[in-house]
Amino acid sequence: MDIKDIRNLIAQMTLEEKAGLLSGQDFWHTKPVERLGIPRTMVSDGPHGLRKQDEEGDHLGINDSIKAVCFPAASATAASFDPELLEKMGEALGEACQHEKLSVLLGPAVNIKRSPLCGRNFEYFSEDPYLTGVMATALIKGIQSKNVGTSIKHFALNSQEHRRMSSSSDCDERTIREIYFPAFEMAVKEAQPWTVMCSYNRVNGVYASENPWLLTDVLRKEWGFEGYVMSDWGAVSNRVAGVAAGLDLEMPASGGINDRKIVEAVRAGKLDEKAVDLCCERILNIVFRFVENAKPETPWDMEAQHLLAAEVAAECMVLLKNEDDLLPLSKEEEIAFIGEFAEKPRFQGGGSSHINCFRTTGAVEAAKEQGLKVVYAQGYSVKADDAPADMIAEAVAAAKKAKVAVVFAGLPDSYESEGYDRSHMRMPESQNRLIEAVAEANPNTVVVLHNGSPVEMPWIGKVKAVLEAYLGGQAVGLAQVKVLFGDVNPSGHLPESFPMKLEDNPSYLFYGGEPRGTEYREGIFVGYRYYDKKKMDVLFPFGYGLSYTTFEYSNLKLSAESIKDTDTLTATVTVKNTGKRAGKAVVQLYAGDTEGYMNAVRPVRELKGFRKVELQPGESKEVTFTLCKRSFAYWNTQIHDWYVETGDFAIEVGDSVANLPLRATVKIESTTELPRHFDLDSIVMDVMADPKANAIMGEFLKKAFAIFSIADENQTEAAQEAISDDMGEAMMGYMPIRGTLSFGGGAVPEEMMLDMLKKMNEA
Ligand code: BGC
Repeated sequence: MDIKDIRNLIAQMTLEEKAGLLSGQDFWHTKPVERLGIPRTMVSDGPHGLRKQDEEGDHLGINDSIKAVCFPAASATAASFDPELLEKMGEALGEACQHEKLSVLLGPAVNIKRSPLCGRNFEYFSEDPYLTGVMATALIKGIQSKNVGTSIKHFALNSQEHRRMSSSSDCDERTIREIYFPAFEMAVKEAQPWTVMCSYNRVNGVYASENPWLLTDVLRKEWGFEGYVMSDWGAVSNRVAGVAAGLDLEMPASGGINDRKIVEAVRAGKLDEKAVDLCCERILNIVFRFVENAKPETPWDMEAQHLLAAEVAAECMVLLKNEDDLLPLSKEEEIAFIGEFAEKPRFQGGGSSHINCFRTTGAVEAAKEQGLKVVYAQGYSVKADDAPADMIAEAVAAAKKAKVAVVFAGLPDSYESEGYDRSHMRMPESQNRLIEAVAEANPNTVVVLHNGSPVEMPWIGKVKAVLEAYLGGQAVGLAQVKVLFGDVNPSGHLPESFPMKLEDNPSYLFYGGEPRGTEYREGIFVGYRYYDKKKMDVLFPFGYGLSYTTFEYSNLKLSAESIKDTDTLTATVTVKNTGKRAGKAVVQLYAGDTEGYMNAVRPVRELKGFRKVELQPGESKEVTFTLCKRSFAYWNTQIHDWYVETGDFAIEVGDSVANLPLRATVKIESTTELPRHFDLDSIVMDVMADPKANAIMGEFLKKAFAIFSIADENQTEAAQEAISDDMGEAMMGYMPIRGTLSFGGGAVPEEMMLDMLKKMNEA
């Protein structure tokens, strides 16, 4: 239906019908207006599978949802560093939605992993906004290619679960723009999600659900979002303010209460009816886009999707340690699989994203199906934190007999869930003790981890290999066996830093916050941006991941030595497989401002490009990255825009933020002139650093303050010692130019200074 027809329909609706359309009919449906032929549509969670509940569906998932396929959660898929894979997974999800007549899948969730503690980290991609943006954009493209909508969520700054429905995320403008917005921005600009879901929390005091800056100024006017905004479930506080701010759809149903408030506000002249019409227009546009492209006959081949889920999971696993090339395992030897997760893996998180899987495959089952010589010992119970002695004894006995012991460990459901945060970064004591005991019994011990976020690894020095499987979806066991036994060469890289301990995390002092909210005081220094700048040791750095082969990076070439900030720059690099197995490298490019005097405080380097490259043994490929202004810019709060400071920038390439063997430099010239204002309180060094101001006042200032800058030979030694050249220079640099008046003892006329300032400000 085109926009004219939609507007026609709206013109025929009563105010009550229009207000009614702006909230759900129930938990999962938009409202129909039958007399006008407006159908209802259904939305469902998401994001890594379908959680379609029955007609009486309840939010908490007490009612069963339909059987579906659970793909790896975002914490895992981010580790693939493979947007094409995510697009493929999105297509599968889109087909399932078409089959199930779902108009919108509620995801992806792109909140930044600010702290390892966030209960919902497993659903989020990364601590890095660029990686998050690229992966989310690909998933959205995949799902929407099947004419099904997505709902990128939770907009915005929803990086904790603690007090999630009332807390204010208090954050400065630059940090919001550089860290917490870019994933939403990239997805909106490059993939136009059909809907956006606003978050529960407030942003700098104003609920996201009634925040005009967020929902209208930034989302629509700046980024060009065309779809509708829905509230997170129960996120509406003041519905009338929400309509005015740009919140189109309240979810779920409000029992008519808020609809009536909208009607009353319009009748009382407190809300413009045009705002109501606009919300209707945006909702109907998407409703009809889905209805007119619905294909319920689309097959949903769950068996095939189970295998796809395994394929995706295998691409996501990160090999963190592999001493003596213990992995891959031999298919001929006896291997002990130890730990409850080997049989019943933890592969998804609790809460709204929880999928009712039509099948799950654990590692024990997958290994047995392949006829591998695997023995199993439970080792611990996810229900208890202490380690029963008999379970440990059984595990130790199995480990002693086997060639290699593989402990399947990680976080139980209760440790990590939507709705609340973790209070520490540890694994259950039962599992830590089990790993220690097994490693003592068998020096060839491997740990496979199931978790949505970093954990402390007190046993890291005692085991030979560690494979991070994140929350790998319902077919995770299949994928684990493929990776452990070498059918798939691991190629995942960490989408987040693993700190040594929780206290090292930059948000540690402020995370969670006071009753009113949480202050994002670490600012832009989230994750590796902090550890890198502080030169801190981490357990594993951002971007890190091993392979069963080795890669070599060489020949970094830039298309130019110097560019303007409006130009693009290409960087090419060669990557070679120097080992004996085929494998996939994740080539990462970081950019960083290397200098200078006027620079804003910046991270040393930031991820600005990555590419997953498959290589046969001995094969080389050239990879090209295109960089643009945004690759070098920071958010300048003076102009409220992206800004590149003139100067040298380093381009570094390698396989993690901590291993960047290639480096080149490009000089970038800014084409934006920042507004300048000089007055009598401006200091000498700022005037001299500005070429135009310096041309007018520089010489004069040098003469006026010569007393500071030139060491006087006639001075006594004592006087020379008291004020060194460096100090003299600093004193002059920091001197307000009004000093020329006072120090000059009236010799410099004030009018002359004011006249020069006027010229400087007009220059
Ligand atoms: C969650 C959303 C989810 C919605 C519907 C909320 O509690 O925050 O992510 O989509 O419920 O289940």
